[in-house]
Amino acid sequence: MSEKTRPLAGKVAVITGASSGIGEAIAHELSAAGCRLVVTARRAQRLHALCARLSGPAVPLSAEIDDPATAQALLETAHENYGRADILINNAGMLVSGPLETIDLDGLMQMTRTNYDAVVRTSYVFARAFKQQAAGSIINVSSVGAYLSHSSMGVYAGLKQAVEVFSTALRVELKGSGVRVGTIAPGTTDTEIFDRLRASGQPVRADQTPALQPLDVASSVRYMLEQPAHANVARLLLVSSAESV
Ligand SMILES: NC(=O)c1ccc[n+]([C@@H]2O[C@H](COP(=O)([O-])OP(=O)(O)OC[C@H]3O[C@@H](n4cnc5c(N)ncnc54)[C@H](OP(=O)(O)O)[C@@H]3O)[C@@H](O)[C@H]2O)c1
Repeated sequence: MSEKTRPLAGKVAVITGASSGIGEAIAHELSAAGCRLVVTARRAQRLHALCARLSGPAVPLSAEIDDPATAQALLETAHENYGRADILINNAGMLVSGPLETIDLDGLMQMTRTNYDAVVRTSYVFARAFKQQAAGSIINVSSVGAYLSHSSMGVYAGLKQAVEVFSTALRVELKGSGVRVGTIAPGTTDTEIFDRLRASGQPVRADQTPALQPLDVASSVRYMLEQPAHANVARLLLVSSAESV
Protein backbone atom coordinates (compact mmCIF):
# COMPACT_ATOMS: atom_id res chain seq x y z
CA MET A 1 0.00 0.00 0.00
CA SER A 2 1.29 3.48 -0.83
CA GLU A 3 2.12 6.27 1.60
CA LYS A 4 -1.03 8.00 0.34
CA THR A 5 -3.37 5.16 1.27
CA ARG A 6 -1.47 4.20 4.43
CA PRO A 7 -0.04 7.54 5.61
CA LEU A 8 0.81 6.40 9.15
CA ALA A 9 2.80 3.30 8.18
CA GLY A 10 6.17 3.31 9.99
CA LYS A 11 5.43 6.44 12.02
CA VAL A 12 6.49 6.33 15.67
CA ALA A 13 3.67 7.24 18.06
CA VAL A 14 3.94 7.79 21.81
CA ILE A 15 0.64 7.29 23.65
CA THR A 16 0.11 8.20 27.30
CA GLY A 17 -2.59 6.56 29.38
CA ALA A 18 -2.52 3.47 27.18
CA SER A 19 -3.33 0.88 29.86
CA SER A 20 -7.10 1.24 29.50
CA GLY A 21 -10.01 3.03 27.85
CA ILE A 22 -9.38 5.58 25.13
CA GLY A 23 -5.58 5.32 25.20
CA GLU A 24 -5.67 1.55 24.82
CA ALA A 25 -8.07 1.90 21.87
CA ILE A 26 -5.80 4.51 20.27
CA ALA A 27 -2.90 2.07 20.61
CA HIS A 28 -4.88 -0.61 18.77
CA GLU A 29 -6.02 1.84 16.08
CA LEU A 30 -2.60 3.35 15.40
CA SER A 31 -0.91 -0.04 15.45
CA ALA A 32 -3.45 -1.26 12.88
CA ALA A 33 -2.59 1.84 10.83
CA GLY A 34 1.06 0.72 10.78
CA CYS A 35 2.52 2.89 13.55
CA ARG A 36 5.33 1.73 15.81
CA LEU A 37 4.42 2.53 19.39
CA VAL A 38 5.70 3.58 22.78
CA VAL A 39 2.87 3.11 25.30
CA THR A 40 2.92 4.42 28.83
CA ALA A 41 0.86 4.35 32.05
CA ARG A 42 1.52 3.14 35.60
CA ARG A 43 0.06 -0.39 35.35
CA ALA A 44 2.95 -2.35 33.84
CA GLN A 45 1.06 -5.63 33.46
CA ARG A 46 -1.68 -3.98 31.43
CA LEU A 47 0.90 -2.38 29.15
CA HIS A 48 2.73 -5.69 28.61
CA ALA A 49 -0.57 -7.44 27.83
CA LEU A 50 -1.46 -4.67 25.37
CA CYS A 51 1.90 -4.90 23.58
CA ALA A 52 1.50 -8.67 23.29
CA ARG A 53 -1.90 -8.23 21.61
CA LEU A 54 -0.79 -5.60 19.08
CA SER A 55 0.22 -6.80 15.65
CA GLY A 56 3.04 -4.27 15.20
CA PRO A 57 6.06 -3.15 17.25
CA ALA A 58 5.22 -1.63 20.64
CA VAL A 59 7.40 -0.81 23.65
CA PRO A 60 5.90 -0.33 27.13
CA LEU A 61 7.21 2.27 29.57
CA SER A 62 5.64 2.00 32.99
CA ALA A 63 5.80 5.46 34.55
CA GLU A 64 3.98 8.09 36.56
CA ILE A 65 3.07 10.82 34.06
CA ASP A 66 3.38 13.47 36.80
CA ASP A 67 7.04 12.60 37.30
CA PRO A 68 9.00 15.45 35.65
CA ALA A 69 11.41 12.90 34.14
CA THR A 70 8.73 10.94 32.27
CA ALA A 71 8.35 13.20 29.22
CA GLN A 72 12.06 13.05 28.38
CA ALA A 73 12.12 9.30 29.12
CA LEU A 74 9.31 8.79 26.60
CA LEU A 75 11.15 10.72 23.91
CA GLU A 76 14.36 8.79 24.61
CA THR A 77 12.53 5.45 24.57
CA ALA A 78 11.16 6.28 21.12
CA HIS A 79 14.61 7.26 19.84
CA GLU A 80 16.40 4.28 21.42
CA ASN A 81 13.93 1.77 19.96
CA TYR A 82 13.00 3.33 16.63
CA GLY A 83 15.47 6.16 16.01
CA ARG A 84 12.75 8.82 15.94
CA ALA A 85 9.37 10.05 17.22
CA ASP A 86 6.60 11.42 14.99
CA ILE A 87 3.41 11.54 17.04
CA LEU A 88 2.53 12.32 20.66
CA ILE A 89 -0.92 11.55 22.05
CA ASN A 90 -1.38 13.16 25.47
CA ASN A 91 -4.26 11.06 26.74
CA ALA A 92 -3.50 10.11 30.37
CA GLY A 93 -6.08 11.60 32.68
CA MET A 94 -8.32 11.16 35.67
CA LEU A 95 -11.62 12.52 36.94
CA VAL A 96 -12.24 13.83 40.43
CA SER A 97 -15.60 15.47 41.04
CA GLY A 98 -18.16 15.94 43.77
CA PRO A 99 -19.93 18.53 45.89
CA LEU A 100 -17.82 21.15 47.63
CA GLU A 101 -18.52 19.72 51.08
CA THR A 102 -16.96 16.36 50.30
CA ILE A 103 -14.78 16.71 47.18
CA ASP A 104 -11.33 15.19 47.61
CA LEU A 105 -9.00 18.24 47.63
CA ASP A 106 -5.81 16.18 47.39
CA GLY A 107 -7.39 14.29 44.50
CA LEU A 108 -8.13 17.61 42.78
CA MET A 109 -4.49 18.68 43.07
CA GLN A 110 -3.38 15.28 41.76
CA MET A 111 -5.77 15.75 38.83
CA THR A 112 -4.25 19.16 38.14
CA ARG A 113 -0.80 17.57 37.87
CA THR A 114 -2.00 14.72 35.66
CA ASN A 115 -4.57 16.43 33.42
CA TYR A 116 -2.72 19.70 32.88
CA ASP A 117 0.85 19.98 34.21
CA ALA A 118 1.94 16.70 32.60
CA VAL A 119 0.28 17.65 29.31
CA VAL A 120 2.22 20.92 29.24
CA ARG A 121 5.58 19.33 30.04
CA THR A 122 5.18 16.45 27.60
CA SER A 123 3.91 18.75 24.85
CA TYR A 124 6.91 21.08 25.22
CA VAL A 125 9.49 18.27 25.35
CA PHE A 126 8.12 16.71 22.16
CA ALA A 127 7.38 20.04 20.44
CA ARG A 128 11.04 21.05 20.79
CA ALA A 129 12.17 17.78 19.22
CA PHE A 130 9.49 17.92 16.50
CA LYS A 131 10.41 21.52 15.64
CA GLN A 132 14.06 20.53 15.19
CA GLN A 133 13.07 17.77 12.77
CA ALA A 134 10.47 20.10 11.17
CA ALA A 135 7.76 17.44 11.45
CA GLY A 136 5.49 15.86 14.01
CA SER A 137 1.97 15.78 15.39
CA ILE A 138 0.71 16.36 18.91
CA ILE A 139 -2.85 15.54 19.88
CA ASN A 140 -4.02 16.47 23.35
CA VAL A 141 -7.14 14.75 24.65
CA SER A 142 -9.48 17.36 26.07
CA SER A 143 -13.15 16.74 26.88
CA VAL A 144 -16.63 17.92 26.07
CA GLY A 145 -16.47 18.94 29.73
CA ALA A 146 -14.33 21.88 28.62
CA TYR A 147 -17.43 23.38 26.99
CA LEU A 148 -19.98 22.59 29.70
CA SER A 149 -20.81 24.01 33.10
CA HIS A 150 -21.32 21.13 35.48
CA SER A 151 -21.52 21.95 39.13
CA SER A 152 -19.18 19.56 40.98
CA MET A 153 -16.94 19.11 37.92
CA GLY A 154 -15.51 22.61 37.69
CA VAL A 155 -11.87 21.70 38.19
CA TYR A 156 -11.95 18.91 35.59
CA ALA A 157 -13.70 21.26 33.15
CA GLY A 158 -11.27 24.08 33.85
CA LEU A 159 -8.25 21.86 33.32
CA LYS A 160 -9.62 20.57 30.02
CA GLN A 161 -10.33 24.13 28.90
CA ALA A 162 -6.77 25.00 29.87
CA VAL A 163 -5.57 22.10 27.70
CA GLU A 164 -7.58 23.55 24.80
CA VAL A 165 -6.21 27.08 25.24
CA PHE A 166 -2.63 25.89 25.75
CA SER A 167 -2.83 23.62 22.69
CA THR A 168 -4.18 26.43 20.51
CA ALA A 169 -1.35 28.72 21.61
CA LEU A 170 1.24 26.02 20.93
CA ARG A 171 -0.29 25.33 17.50
CA VAL A 172 -0.05 29.00 16.59
CA GLU A 173 3.49 29.28 17.96
CA LEU A 174 4.48 26.35 15.75
CA LYS A 175 2.76 27.56 12.58
CA GLY A 176 4.83 26.95 9.49
CA SER A 177 7.27 24.71 11.39
CA GLY A 178 5.89 21.41 10.09
CA VAL A 179 4.58 20.54 13.55
CA ARG A 180 0.84 20.11 13.99
CA VAL A 181 -0.99 20.46 17.30
CA GLY A 182 -4.64 19.55 17.78
CA THR A 183 -7.16 18.62 20.44
CA ILE A 184 -9.93 16.08 20.53
CA ALA A 185 -12.79 16.63 22.95
CA PRO A 186 -14.68 13.38 23.44
CA GLY A 187 -18.15 13.25 24.92
CA THR A 188 -19.07 10.69 27.56
CA THR A 189 -17.14 7.52 26.77
CA ASP A 190 -17.59 4.22 28.51
CA THR A 191 -14.27 3.68 30.32
CA GLU A 192 -12.76 3.01 33.73
CA ILE A 193 -12.45 6.75 34.38
CA PHE A 194 -15.87 6.57 36.05
CA ASP A 195 -14.94 3.70 38.40
CA ARG A 196 -13.91 6.10 41.14
CA LEU A 197 -17.32 7.83 41.01
CA ARG A 198 -19.15 4.51 40.91
CA ALA A 199 -17.21 3.36 43.98
CA SER A 200 -18.23 6.49 45.87
CA GLY A 201 -21.89 6.05 44.90
CA GLN A 202 -22.01 9.20 42.75
CA PRO A 203 -24.14 9.24 39.58
CA VAL A 204 -22.16 8.42 36.45
CA ARG A 205 -23.05 10.01 33.13
CA ALA A 206 -21.80 7.01 31.18
CA ASP A 207 -24.47 4.92 32.94
CA GLN A 208 -27.26 7.39 32.15
CA THR A 209 -26.56 8.62 28.61
CA PRO A 210 -25.81 6.51 25.56
CA ALA A 211 -22.04 6.74 25.63
CA LEU A 212 -19.29 6.64 23.04
CA GLN A 213 -17.00 3.62 22.96
CA PRO A 214 -13.21 4.09 23.20
CA LEU A 215 -12.84 2.90 19.60
CA ASP A 216 -15.04 5.78 18.40
CA VAL A 217 -12.55 8.24 19.86
CA ALA A 218 -9.57 6.26 18.57
CA SER A 219 -10.93 6.29 15.00
CA SER A 220 -11.25 10.06 15.18
CA VAL A 221 -7.66 10.40 16.41
CA ARG A 222 -6.54 8.29 13.46
CA TYR A 223 -8.57 10.52 11.12
CA MET A 224 -6.82 13.61 12.54
CA LEU A 225 -3.40 12.05 12.03
CA GLU A 226 -4.11 10.78 8.53
CA GLN A 227 -4.69 14.24 7.08
CA PRO A 228 -2.04 15.47 4.65
CA ALA A 229 0.82 17.42 6.24
CA HIS A 230 -0.60 20.80 5.18
CA ALA A 231 -3.98 20.11 6.88
CA ASN A 232 -4.41 20.24 10.65
CA VAL A 233 -7.61 19.18 12.40
CA ALA A 234 -6.98 21.68 15.14
CA ARG A 235 -10.02 20.88 17.28
CA LEU A 236 -12.42 17.97 17.10
CA LEU A 237 -15.57 17.62 19.23
CA LEU A 238 -16.95 14.07 19.20
CA VAL A 239 -20.15 13.35 21.09
CA SER A 240 -22.63 10.51 21.11
CA SER A 241 -25.56 11.21 18.80
CA ALA A 242 -27.85 11.03 21.84
CA GLU A 243 -25.85 13.46 23.96
CA SER A 244 -27.49 16.80 24.79
CA VAL A 245 -24.54 19.13 24.30
N1 LIG B 1 -14.33 8.62 29.44
C1 LIG B 1 -14.86 9.80 29.13
O1 LIG B 1 -16.09 10.02 29.18
C2 LIG B 1 -13.97 10.91 28.67
C3 LIG B 1 -14.55 12.00 28.02
C4 LIG B 1 -13.75 13.05 27.59
C5 LIG B 1 -12.39 13.00 27.79
N2 LIG B 1 -11.83 11.93 28.43
C6 LIG B 1 -10.37 11.93 28.62
O2 LIG B 1 -9.83 10.83 27.97
C7 LIG B 1 -8.58 10.49 28.57
C8 LIG B 1 -8.52 8.99 28.81
O3 LIG B 1 -9.48 8.65 29.79
P1 LIG B 1 -10.34 7.30 29.76
O4 LIG B 1 -11.76 7.71 29.76
O5 LIG B 1 -9.85 6.39 28.72
O6 LIG B 1 -10.04 6.75 31.24
P2 LIG B 1 -9.25 5.49 31.78
O7 LIG B 1 -9.73 4.23 31.14
O8 LIG B 1 -9.34 5.59 33.27
O9 LIG B 1 -7.76 5.75 31.30
C9 LIG B 1 -6.92 6.70 31.92
C10 LIG B 1 -5.49 6.37 31.54
O10 LIG B 1 -4.62 7.36 32.11
C11 LIG B 1 -3.60 6.70 32.85
N3 LIG B 1 -3.20 7.53 33.98
C12 LIG B 1 -4.02 8.13 34.87
N4 LIG B 1 -3.28 8.78 35.79
C13 LIG B 1 -1.98 8.56 35.47
C14 LIG B 1 -0.75 8.94 36.07
N5 LIG B 1 -0.71 9.69 37.17
N6 LIG B 1 0.39 8.53 35.49
C15 LIG B 1 0.36 7.76 34.37
N7 LIG B 1 -0.78 7.37 33.77
C16 LIG B 1 -1.93 7.76 34.32
C17 LIG B 1 -4.24 5.38 33.30
O11 LIG B 1 -3.25 4.40 33.50
P3 LIG B 1 -2.72 3.82 34.89
O12 LIG B 1 -3.85 3.88 35.87
O13 LIG B 1 -2.29 2.44 34.55
O14 LIG B 1 -1.57 4.71 35.24
C18 LIG B 1 -5.06 5.01 32.08
O15 LIG B 1 -4.26 4.37 31.13
C19 LIG B 1 -8.47 11.35 29.83
O16 LIG B 1 -7.64 12.46 29.56
C20 LIG B 1 -9.91 11.80 30.04
O17 LIG B 1 -9.98 13.02 30.76
C21 LIG B 1 -12.58 10.88 28.86
